Amino acid sequence: MTPLAPATAATPSQVLVVGSGGRENALAWALRRCPGVERVWVAPGNGGTASQLGCEPLPLAANDHAGLIAACLERQVQLVVVGPEGPLADGLADRLREAGLAVFGPGSDGAKLESSKQWAKALMQEAGVPTAAYWAPTSREQALEVVESHGLPLVVKADGLAAGKGVTVADSLATTRQAIEDIFDGRFTSPALVLEERLSGPEVSVFALTDGRTMVLLPPAQDHKRIGEGDTGPNTGGMGAYAPAPLLDADGLERVRQLVLEPTLRALRARGIDYRGVIYAGLMLTPDGLKVIEFNCRFGDPECQTLMPLLGGELAEVLLACASGKLAEAPSLGVAEACSACVVAAAAGYPDEPRLGDVIEDQLAASADRQLFHAGSRQEPGGAIVTAGGRVLAVVAQAKDFDAAFSAAYSGLEQVRFDGMLYRRDIGHQVRRS
Ligand code: AMP
Ligand code: GLY
Repeated sequence: MTPLAPATAATPSQVLVVGSGGRENALAWALRRCPGVERVWVAPGNGGTASQLGCEPLPLAANDHAGLIAACLERQVQLVVVGPEGPLADGLADRLREAGLAVFGPGSDGAKLESSKQWAKALMQEAGVPTAAYWAPTSREQALEVVESHGLPLVVKADGLAAGKGVTVADSLATTRQAIEDIFDGRFTSPALVLEERLSGPEVSVFALTDGRTMVLLPPAQDHKRIGEGDTGPNTGGMGAYAPAPLLDADGLERVRQLVLEPTLRALRARGIDYRGVIYAGLMLTPDGLKVIEFNCRFGDPECQTLMPLLGGELAEVLLACASGKLAEAPSLGVAEACSACVVAAAAGYPDEPRLGDVIEDQLAASADRQLFHAGSRQEPGGAIVTAGGRVLAVVAQAKDFDAAFSAAYSGLEQVRFDGMLYRRDIGHQVRRS
């Protein structure tokens, strides 16, 4: 692993992470291990925040803007990292900044990269970023005309945030029409959509940490969205991931910087948006070159859990530098030359109706190269930690190759149990030999 560099005066000692998922626990864990960081609060955190990470849960919801501001001022928090997209789209980062706090996470203007697909597509088109051709019809009649004139296959995307349920990659006319009807019938945040040409190719996620001008790219990661082995069954938030994904070598990552991220940042700046946070580019490597499938304004989950253990102790300083508009002056972020493997364990019934309240038993001893990050869990008043969401936890391991990393992650999972626990045994099949 990368040795942790000593703290500098620019390292925040008091940090708050907002959110309650596995992503936020991984962020809190990575920030907590940075030399110079003394305390990390997580609001509201989950069942693993205190017991696994030694971080301090703060029982405040992400939409309690006033409560979060007061808690930060009282605790002299020097850096706030906002994990999920909902609070960012809601303007939490704006409110915290107005109160004088340093925040890693865009304002609601920049969060539109994720919260409005129409807005993001228009920005990509303006910036010349490669992406699928699209239409933004304003009524169901117009949408059905596009289907008629273009023909299938088309991808139907609800415009607003939809917790991963807003995209329909339909094969049949009936499914395509139904997806359009659902959106105009008001099943999503707004009756607006985009229709896209359907692309094909492997997908890879790239994350750029930015202060709005300079950026630092993390190693590419690949997620596994389907619930079932062999990439079958319904979509989930993500059942596992690995990094660095060999799909993009150093030259490939440089192309992503030049073709996608730099033009996007310039287009954001041209719109007067000072984007301080992470840009998550979901890419597809098509026969016609790389194309952006979607942008998100946050880290991926579970890509974040996969990547954080690879990062050096400069992370806290680098995130603070992004928040303060000073990334060009920050030390370079160390990245371990290791392979990281992450396997998610979900509750029985996930993704449709996850069963809650099963006791989680964990015999996994912490080590430098294997971590357990809780997600959908909570601690009961008596102390027991029980399942409280669909994706319950993830085990992540790092090693010199993917075979060793996945072997360590899977053997770690065997030391954790709860009734109904389900996980895919083929995570990383693209890079494993065994
Ligand atoms: P999400 O937005 O995370 O719900 O999921 C979107 C998923 O739909 C992506 O990961 C792709 O697999 C798929 N997808 C989105 N847009 C396209 C497209 N234009 N062509 C093919 N697949 C797509
Ligand atoms: N892992 C996919 C996402 O966070 O959207």
